Amino acid sequence: MTLTTSGDAVVRAEELYEASRRAITLTVDDLWPGRGAVLGAQVPSLTSYVCPVTVDGEELFAKYGWLSTPMASVLRGARGTWDDVLEAQLPYTRSADLLTRREFQQLEFLRQLGRPRVCEAVDFRAGVLLTRALSGMTVAEEINLRPWDTGPLLDSVLLSLPELHGEAGAKYIKRAWPINERSIVDVFLHQFKGPSAAGFVADLGRDRELPEHERLVIVDLVANAVRRLIRLTTALRPRQRVAVYGDLKPEHVFLSGARMTFISPALQWAAGPEPDVAKLIGRALLLGLCHHELRAEQQITQGVASTLDSYFGALPRGERLDQVREVMVLWLMDTAALLATCLSVPADYPVTAHQEQVVRHARRIATVLDRVSGLLIGSMTGAGLLDAIFGEFDQTAWNPLRAGRHSATPTSIEGNDA
Ligand SMILES: Nc1ncnc2c1ncn2[C@@H]1O[C@H](COP(=O)(O)OP(=O)(O)OP(=O)(O)O)[C@@H](O)[C@H]1O
Ligand SMILES: [Mg+2]
Repeated sequence: MTLTTSGDAVVRAEELYEASRRAITLTVDDLWPGRGAVLGAQVPSLTSYVCPVTVDGEELFAKYGWLSTPMASVLRGARGTWDDVLEAQLPYTRSADLLTRREFQQLEFLRQLGRPRVCEAVDFRAGVLLTRALSGMTVAEEINLRPWDTGPLLDSVLLSLPELHGEAGAKYIKRAWPINERSIVDVFLHQFKGPSAAGFVADLGRDRELPEHERLVIVDLVANAVRRLIRLTTALRPRQRVAVYGDLKPEHVFLSGARMTFISPALQWAAGPEPDVAKLIGRALLLGLCHHELRAEQQITQGVASTLDSYFGALPRGERLDQVREVMVLWLMDTAALLATCLSVPADYPVTAHQEQVVRHARRIATVLDRVSGLLIGSMTGAGLLDAIFGEFDQTAWNPLRAGRHSATPTSIEGNDA
């Protein structure tokens, strides 16, 4: 199959996947010769090739990436032809700042730190990261099943992070390699700023089964939001004070009993904990928006509002006003980038059920992006801003014809409109 999505050069998916499996097979045979390692089926990942591996009855996960570039972008030709990719990949797998090597080092640091608890990094070799498989459900799955527990679940995730957000994290990241490839701002700007951005936005959803008029509405809404968000990046504080987890999705936290264990860190500098808060609550809101039951959607939104309420409520007033705005800007940037990625991956790229739902609900998500970004360019701050945002969210995300809803607005945060 030849992919004919946007981008001049194209790479065949089968070739990329086969080469990834070959690299993983060679590495596990090299690490555990004669132990009959068996690779399982590819697991959806927007960035790397991931699959389970069984060695002597032990369940591991293997992760292999290409040129620090999301696999979907490699397929679209972002790193040239297949020959170009292969030629660059060998020196890349030997380089010191290889992404999976940085992740391995970060997992080892977090194991020493003790909190947040992370999966065991079993080994790293030739670009392949091997982690011990976690059992249990993820926080995303828990939220879907028990939406009424969203607030406490999100609170517990954030309560695992003070050590990392404190001195110990900053001391580590000062002497280590960050994973900036997962920075919300960098990913957003990479997608939406630059000479090819306009074409990228105009092509969104072309490979999805969307009616053209619907697709054009989505493109318009996303373009509006992106224009405003680019303006808002100038107000973000420099990223140099705090180490953040970096890819704090509810899908990256596993629960076993009351124990939370994290996977897939992307430690990086930030101005404060805002990127972690933004990604966690933004992705939780998307789970609500994509939920098939209205009551569950309401409960998830209310849970997010309550987590934000207690999180911001615990901050000194001066910090709170800056942080509310920054968290909201980063939330929208992350949501815009995820929506755009889901709308632009090649038609047969493996995606999760949730990512399929994101495409199904693309118009609602794009409407939220448009309306909330409109609020953010205004002068509201603090609780007034949050109330207005959740009000918009309420109106745009929920079909107003679906009766019986309650507003989910946090009310106890001081610091109203400027
Ligand atoms: N140690 C593990 N235990 C259990 N599941 C795992 C483990 N490692 C990876 N997975 C599964 O594989 C998926 C993708 O893994 P991971 O997040 O590490 O890859 P990624 O390339 O960062 O993907 P993405 O960019 O989509 O986050 C996870 O969401 C999870 O379902
Ligand atoms: Mg990940």
